[in-house]
Amino acid sequence: MSEIKLPEVELNIYSPKDPVEVEVVENYIVTKESSPNIVRHITFNIAGTDLENRVRVGQSIGILPPGKNEKGRPHKLRLYSVSSPTDGEHGKSNLISTTVKRTIDELGNKLYLGVASNYLADLKPGDKVQMTGPSGRRFLLPENPHDFNYLFFATGTGIAPYRGMIQELFSEGFKNDCVLVFGCPYRTDLLYADYFEKMDEEHENFHYLKSISREARRHDGSKFYVQTQLQDEKELLYPILAKDNTLIYICGMKGMETGIYKELVKQNLPEYLQIKKELPENLDDIPQDKFKRFIKPSMRTFEEVY
Ligand SMILES: Cc1cc2nc3c(=O)[nH]c(=O)nc-3n(C[C@H](O)[C@H](O)[C@H](O)COP(=O)(O)OP(=O)(O)OC[C@H]3O[C@@H](n4cnc5c(N)ncnc54)[C@H](O)[C@@H]3O)c2cc1C
Ligand SMILES: NC(=O)c1ccc[n+]([C@@H]2O[C@H](COP(=O)([O-])OP(=O)(O)OC[C@H]3O[C@@H](n4cnc5c(N)ncnc54)[C@H](OP(=O)(O)O)[C@@H]3O)[C@@H](O)[C@H]2O)c1
Repeated sequence: MSEIKLPEVELNIYSPKDPVEVEVVENYIVTKESSPNIVRHITFNIAGTDLENRVRVGQSIGILPPGKNEKGRPHKLRLYSVSSPTDGEHGKSNLISTTVKRTIDELGNKLYLGVASNYLADLKPGDKVQMTGPSGRRFLLPENPHDFNYLFFATGTGIAPYRGMIQELFSEGFKNDCVLVFGCPYRTDLLYADYFEKMDEEHENFHYLKSISREARRHDGSKFYVQTQLQDEKELLYPILAKDNTLIYICGMKGMETGIYKELVKQNLPEYLQIKKELPENLDDIPQDKFKRFIKPSMRTFEEVY
């Protein structure tokens, strides 16, 4: 297999103490109209800033929401994954995008709206935001991306980096295998679905697998999760995983990686993992919070979960 060499990246060109002001150029919904979950694609103009040509897809940008928290201190920075390709949204180096879900919670009959995500979702073209970053040095495509196959796992807005990565790979005539496995609660939560459906139709080497968790159930009554595709679509996925130049990327909710790693162990694919401690016969005996003591990602697996 070719060496997996990650590109050098610059970090924190703009810090929270010294952010840069950028302008919103577009802000549109990417969930289906009827979804109660609102996820928006937001593009910023970074022309004339030191971010131009210096942010890679897979990295994150920081947003400083205006105003103060309940302690009277300025709101802290929130990170958002870049969802445009490295050469910029619409091929323009001055445009950078992200994918933001409005967070909403109810506690004791009181509704809480997440500060930064709702601030961003409300913005209109022409509005200005304070941006920092970039951050992240490992969740990147390798320097020689066309030497590998990719298995991209995403839950929810964890799809953000893959939109840019897939655009980047295929705009340069990617010939190897690329699979996107996307998990969300309902069909209406499929993000950028039209784009990925079209990619699936147009490219024999691109596969879009959907794991919709709250509609139908699997034959054993369990939910369709991203990791269950490793069993349900084994005929497609195992031969790709068995190649020695395949890389796995995992992005989204904390905990999703555990299910994927368990399935890789079951299918005897240890090259994607570092087994640190002898595993019990039943992997489900490992408590979730102790899992990392037993299994960690190897060089061939990239993880960004929280
Ligand atoms: C590396 C990285 C990349 C990320 N990329 C993305 C991305 O691409 N897209 C994306 O959407 N997010 C992403 N995130 C998450 C993002 O950074 C924010 O954490 C998220 O948007 C929530 O921020 P917020 O300010 O809206 O919510 P916060 O104000 O921080 O609140 C968090 C949650 O708590 C609830 N809440 C607030 N106060 C209370 C209270 N008193 N009681 C009960 N509940 C309360 C809010 O409703 C909200 O759901 C990323 C995070 C990381 C670390
Ligand atoms: N760069 C990053 O690190 C990054 C970027 C963007 C987003 N995120 C994070 O990604 C998460 C996604 O949230 P969301 O609201 O956008 O997602 P969402 O739309 O609610 O979808 C999450 C999906 O994952 C399923 N799921 C739950 N537990 C799982 C498990 N153990 N294994 C596999 N799948 C599981 C859920 O199923 P059920 O709910 O039906 O059980 C649901 O179908 C958030 O925590 C977000 O902050 C991270």
